[in-house]
Amino acid sequence: MDKKIKIIILAAGLGKRMQNENPKVLLKVKEKRMIEHLRDSIIEAQNTKPIAVIGHQAERVKAELGDSFSYVVQEQQLGTAHAVMMAQAECKDIENVMVLYGDQPFIKSSTIKNIIKKHLDNDATITFATTSVPDFKGFHKVFMTFARILRDGEKIKSIREFKDATEKEKEIREVNAGCYVFKASWLWKNLKNIDKKNAQGEYYLTDLVPIALGDGEKIETVNIEPREAMGANSKEDLEILEGIEV
Ligand code: UD1
Ligand code: MG
Repeated sequence: MDKKIKIIILAAGLGKRMQNENPKVLLKVKEKRMIEHLRDSIIEAQNTKPIAVIGHQAERVKAELGDSFSYVVQEQQLGTAHAVMMAQAECKDIENVMVLYGDQPFIKSSTIKNIIKKHLDNDATITFATTSVPDFKGFHKVFMTFARILRDGEKIKSIREFKDATEKEKEIREVNAGCYVFKASWLWKNLKNIDKKNAQGEYYLTDLVPIALGDGEKIETVNIEPREAMGANSKEDLEILEGIEV
């Protein structure tokens, strides 16, 4: 375990697209809550207690999930960048911060380890996971609304949220798998530079990629298996995850 790394799981969202009165973070897939799958992989990889950023029905979420997480509350869901900011006070003396999304249960412990290793070995500012799909059919449907990775040859150019993407960009089949490691000092400084001028009026964590590129910072990516990167935003997605062999 590397004491200089903290792992944050974002799980404050209501999960409007689930059309379920329970907070999305409490929904189960394969007999465990999505966030509990993630927690188990994190413990296996790093043996560290993750910080869960929670919001909707926070007291109930804490009571149900118990003390295998530490918690911070995001009162208003202003976006994924804002959610990460809520955890800063819990990350004193931490040199690198990993961020995962609570609706992506299948990321493996080996992948968590690999991404951290690549980040540290390369002394990168951001290291994040992408996944590549042949199309958006069958179980790959769940990736349709993931952000697209924009490259110039091999070189990463930007990352575009689905709702902000042009029709042409939506054809890109490399998507953001939602698993990042950031240099902590750079992260805390630059989260403040994110604006909400986008289709959803939210502070996007993914805007850190163009900000880092603009500053000439080093960005590394790791391409992971689609099965590990699958996420559930809707009831239909949840059913697809339930049916998949992992
Ligand atoms: C997000 C990513 C997208 C990525 C995809 C992978 C952003 C802007 N977009 O999109 O690039 O491809 O995940 O799954 O980061 N949350 C909070 N507070 C907020 C907003 C969200 O805690 O204010 C939490 C949600 O509870 C959820 C996670 O963050 O667990 C991601 O939010 P979600 O709304 O599912 O984002 P996506 O549209 O899936
Ligand atoms: Mg999601």
